[in-house]
Amino acid sequence: MNTIKHTGKIIIEYLERFPNLPIRTLANKIYNENNQLYKNAELVRQHIKYYKGKNGKQALKNLNNKKFVGIKTKPYRMPESQIKHVEVWKLPKANKKVLVLSDIHIPYHDVEAIQTALNEGKQQGIDTIYLNGDIMDFFMLSFHEKNPKNRPSLKNEIDMAREFFAYLRQEFPNVTIYFKPGNHEHRLERYLYLKAPELLDCEEFKLEILLGLAEFRIIYISKRVKTYLGHLLIEHGDRMKGNGGVNPARSLYMRYKRHVLAGHFHRKSEHVEKVYDGSLVTSFSTGCLCELEPEYFEVNNHCLGFAIVDMDGDNFKVRNYLIENGKLY
Ligand SMILES: [Fe+2]
Ligand SMILES: [Fe+2]
Repeated sequence: MNTIKHTGKIIIEYLERFPNLPIRTLANKIYNENNQLYKNAELVRQHIKYYKGKNGKQALKNLNNKKFVGIKTKPYRMPESQIKHVEVWKLPKANKKVLVLSDIHIPYHDVEAIQTALNEGKQQGIDTIYLNGDIMDFFMLSFHEKNPKNRPSLKNEIDMAREFFAYLRQEFPNVTIYFKPGNHEHRLERYLYLKAPELLDCEEFKLEILLGLAEFRIIYISKRVKTYLGHLLIEHGDRMKGNGGVNPARSLYMRYKRHVLAGHFHRKSEHVEKVYDGSLVTSFSTGCLCELEPEYFEVNNHCLGFAIVDMDGDNFKVRNYLIENGKLY
């Protein structure tokens, strides 16, 4: 590597990061942090002066990069913040009757229960389907101890998910469909973080591309986005830590303190809280549409279910359905 070019590049990088630092302070900083590269701090100072156009008229004339010329110095500035603001997204007003399905856990999906939910949606004339997380199981990407015997491969699982999306699109050709990942879909990203971080940037390994959502005109909503149906927050439910306690809907209220609907707990529950001035806050957890007694958690209180949300402006009406033996309650 050309050492002069390299040392110059380092100085430019520091000038980009600390454009307002006084020359001597910056020179000392660069020298202290890179003393293998520079003989002494004075040489670094001369180098900075060059980029700042303070080495005489001729040097200024020959200077190619004049970006740092004339920048006023200040002793300190606020460090750059790494905060990532969470995006908020509201479903359009055109989405007036929304079928919310979650925890399908393909390939452990309950075909009959899903069909019951879809039939009800069709009968009620839904205009939107909101896939609220854990649509896939991604068993093979789990970091839990697992017995891979007789389990479908990842490829099989993805093919089955595509088959499901194709079926959904065929049954509801004109309905808007959204897909938001839950903690099970997040297994893909976690797997890449830990096993193949080099692939994280590759478009081909992004969940929405792997699942081919665009092909089925399914709109992908990324995991960290806060999604609202009018005044109702719709979450998968895994943002709230824990198993939901005795009544997941009440636990949701205790954490969110607002109208909220979530899946994730595989249990149907509702909670109403009256605020002192008389207004009501409601929260809901919906049942799942998958195997009720999975091998890893056989004794549980899971039930089958889904929700249909009717919108009137920003106001909502949630019908939280329970399915038992193919019947709706
Ligand atoms: Fe789930
Ligand atoms: Fe979940």
